[in-house]
Amino acid sequence: MSTVRSASAVAPSNIALVKYWGKRDLELNLPATGSISVTLDTLLTHTTIAFDTALDTDEVTLNGEPAGTAGARVARFLDLVRDLYGVREHARVETRNDFPTGAGLASSASGFAALAVACDAALELGLSTEQLSVLARRGSGSAARSLIGGFAEMHAGSADDGTDAYAVPLAPAEALPLRVLVAVTTREAKAVGSTEGMRLTEATSPFYGAWVDATREDLDALRAALRDGDLATVGQVAEGNCLRMHATMLGAEPGLLYWNAATVDVMHAVRALRAERIGAWFTIDAGPQVKVLCDAEDEPDVRARLDALAGVTAVLAASPGPGARVVEASA
Ligand code: PMV
Repeated sequence: MSTVRSASAVAPSNIALVKYWGKRDLELNLPATGSISVTLDTLLTHTTIAFDTALDTDEVTLNGEPAGTAGARVARFLDLVRDLYGVREHARVETRNDFPTGAGLASSASGFAALAVACDAALELGLSTEQLSVLARRGSGSAARSLIGGFAEMHAGSADDGTDAYAVPLAPAEALPLRVLVAVTTREAKAVGSTEGMRLTEATSPFYGAWVDATREDLDALRAALRDGDLATVGQVAEGNCLRMHATMLGAEPGLLYWNAATVDVMHAVRALRAERIGAWFTIDAGPQVKVLCDAEDEPDVRARLDALAGVTAVLAASPGPGARVVEASA
């Protein structure tokens, strides 16, 4: 007779306002710098895991289909969990994103945060939030931040074993009247994943060292702006940091260009809104979608402008929200 240990978890995406782009250790997935993000109340991953003594391999489905490459990444993460916590069983993992996967919408962040929380609950590991953040980081650097609600700061840490590289709460969700509008410009998966993109940037971009230095300054500026509840400065720092990250990627050999024509149209539209004294700022990760930050009061104006752009296929909206959580305890 087989024994099953199962649990379900939900985890949100997060958007980095000061971004992580570079690793100090590839094996442990340790970031070269800290980062600051906002955790979103929509764009969620739902994951159910069942560790089952009857299985001789991991079975992973993503949005109801066999998960392919993403499934191999999940299986590697489960190998790590088995290794760290002395677990022998393989698992069935059913995971579902309520947003497009793999196109710069942080699906690995919500995905590995949900997986870490579900593993902890199913196996009754009793991990602290910090330990869960460290574990989620092994799956994806940005996943470490999705454990935390509101605004989170990821510490780069200095320990060789990575035990001090985890995310902590920086400000509650209510700290700013922030809305995040995601302008979707394509649903195609991106060509170069973040690990490969970071490796290429570190190895070949002459701007990489300057990026690391500038990011440290951006972290100080953003922390202060959040403390003051100053949305305009938060937006300004986030937009500048995003452009510096992309400038650094563009300087790689070959240059990493994640934008399409509509991405650039959205950037111009956001700048035009600001020229009309409507507070809106953009940030873009390793993909073609643009996340527009604005005050809740300005959301209708900003949304109307984004909807009017021919290359924008959808606009998804989110507010700061709670971190990853269990939705159903082990039977
Ligand atoms: O966590 P990863 O490996 O998907 O890398 C995230 C990289 C960015 O999204 C571009 C920046 C960030 O800090 O989220």
